[in-house]
Amino acid sequence: MDLMQDSKGEQIYRPRLGRCQRLMSEKEIDVLFLAPGPNMYYLSGFLEEPSERLLSLIVPQSDDPLFIVPELYEQQVRASSSVEKLVSWKDSQNPNTVLSATMRKVLSKRPTIAVDSRMWSRFLLMLLAVAPDARYLDAALVMNLLRNKKTPEEIALMSKSAEIADTTFTETIKDCREGMTEHQVAAKIVSELRRLGADGVAFEPITGSGPNAALPHYRSGDRKLQRGDLVVLDYGCLYRGYNSDITRTIAVGSCDDERRKVYSVVRSAQEKAYQTAVEGVEAQTVDKTAREIIEAAGYGQFFVHRTGHGIGLEVHEDPYIVAGNSMKLEDGMAFSIEPGIYIPGQFGVRIEDIVVVQAGKAQRLNKCTRELVTV
Ligand code: CO
Ligand code: CO
Repeated sequence: MDLMQDSKGEQIYRPRLGRCQRLMSEKEIDVLFLAPGPNMYYLSGFLEEPSERLLSLIVPQSDDPLFIVPELYEQQVRASSSVEKLVSWKDSQNPNTVLSATMRKVLSKRPTIAVDSRMWSRFLLMLLAVAPDARYLDAALVMNLLRNKKTPEEIALMSKSAEIADTTFTETIKDCREGMTEHQVAAKIVSELRRLGADGVAFEPITGSGPNAALPHYRSGDRKLQRGDLVVLDYGCLYRGYNSDITRTIAVGSCDDERRKVYSVVRSAQEKAYQTAVEGVEAQTVDKTAREIIEAAGYGQFFVHRTGHGIGLEVHEDPYIVAGNSMKLEDGMAFSIEPGIYIPGQFGVRIEDIVVVQAGKAQRLNKCTRELVTV
């Protein structure tokens, strides 16, 4: 599942490594120690889940990067990554020995090592044993700065991921009707995402109906959709490593005045926040805009989460659209705008789009309707 299977790989990862090493130099980081996951993928093109076997990408500040890989991964790493230096180890070997031999060559005296925030603690403990005198930092100090502004190649993949999510919505609501269970709706979403070319789901879909829609991170259950319900559908897919994330709220059969009113408040909060998201504006201002509209309508206490989160190789990453985040929006930043109102025990509404700041202004990647759809 490499990002670019042609010679462009080299054109993509070499400049990223260059930018990474310049940032390491600015921050006086000697070595970056990365685990399987988004950071490793971003710098090398090799995408894999973390596992019990030691697999690491080591980036020295001023030397070529190198991989430590279990032998069974060697061919895959070589095929998808432009990193040439590789230390391969066998299952019959002790990874501690391999790690210490490798790190002794890479590390200076009392080095500063930035470790992947998503690395399993057992590998951090191994590293601590190998280099007890090192200063340890979070690799996010460098990686977040690299990853929070998307390149055109990344935006193209995220647009495709969003398009799959959009089409999944239009296809799913064709089948949604009274009497279906939430599980059945979730299964339909997952099968549509796959059929349309997704590599997998970004997370287990949320299909909260009736009172379950008032639980922002509900998943799905046996409850049957009933006439008069609002149903929150929140899901996304992975496309070549890039996540989509969309929420639409639909009505079953009919919709009373109160629910319709709440829907329209959420919709205008989402729209106004979207209009506010321009280059140079602080992330927290986007949150404030959405919150003020919901508060003015009298529902402030029922908007119980931040307005959004950055997205890319992870579903939730920088920049967070939340009070207290004074980070200024820049071209290339991608994030969700997803205000919601949740009336406990009764109903909930959320509307979520992913946007990317381009030419100074947020542009929606999700284009499917934000009108209240009744099925
Ligand atoms: Co979502
Ligand atoms: Co989201």
